[in-house]
Amino acid sequence: MQGRIAFFDSGVGGLALLAECSGRFPGEKYLYYGDNANAPYGNRGDREICALADRAFAEIARREIAAAVIACNTVTAECAGSLRRRYPFPIFGIEPAIRPAAAAGGKVLVLATRATLRSARVAALLRENETRAEIACFCPARLAEAVEAAAPDLSALRLEEHLPPGRYDGVVLGCTHYALIGRAIARYYSCPVYDGVAETVDHLQKKLNIRSENASKRAKIDVIFAGSGKIRNEMVFFGLK
Ligand code: DGL
Repeated sequence: MQGRIAFFDSGVGGLALLAECSGRFPGEKYLYYGDNANAPYGNRGDREICALADRAFAEIARREIAAAVIACNTVTAECAGSLRRRYPFPIFGIEPAIRPAAAAGGKVLVLATRATLRSARVAALLRENETRAEIACFCPARLAEAVEAAAPDLSALRLEEHLPPGRYDGVVLGCTHYALIGRAIARYYSCPVYDGVAETVDHLQKKLNIRSENASKRAKIDVIFAGSGKIRNEMVFFGLK
């Protein structure tokens, strides 16, 4: 593919998507842009979020970009439409995986940022799936911030300070920062979690027609890390692999 596949997030959360995509398609070229200096976005107003995303995209678009992935549920929910209208390359997004979680039935907890939970897209997803499962939503107001501050060592996060108690059959990780601690959240609730990461990469592969290759053959991935804050992403990214 000509150009890089760019991944954008408010901070480190989108690394979950970059890790999945580069693990499966190590021969592609990547750019990761984290707006770490302004993270988290999730408690901000719509306009502010879109202004920050616009500014980040202006930086991303200075490179040769084949496609961009908004690796952030919050920005996808708030401004995917306006970003798509503005840029010539294809722009993909990620949305809370409410559909697969609800399809499994039972009691489902949706965790996402305040901005994502108030979005029209999530309201539509909840309506579409309301007969399949009993769905509750919760915004862990400081969890993305805690992940951002603790990265790359996420082992000491105290989930009980952020997550509501309860018994669930499935938990939707509707924020890519939560996907980074997906295993710990699955253990916390003793149930499956749904982060939408693999499905987003499946969609990307189909739309961009990316050919599968033998991932184990390639050791080095061509990725440029950029962003507005301290670039410690590389460390986090390789820590994830
Ligand atoms: N990682 C982002 C998401 O998927 C946003 C977290 C934040 O900046 O609040 O929603």
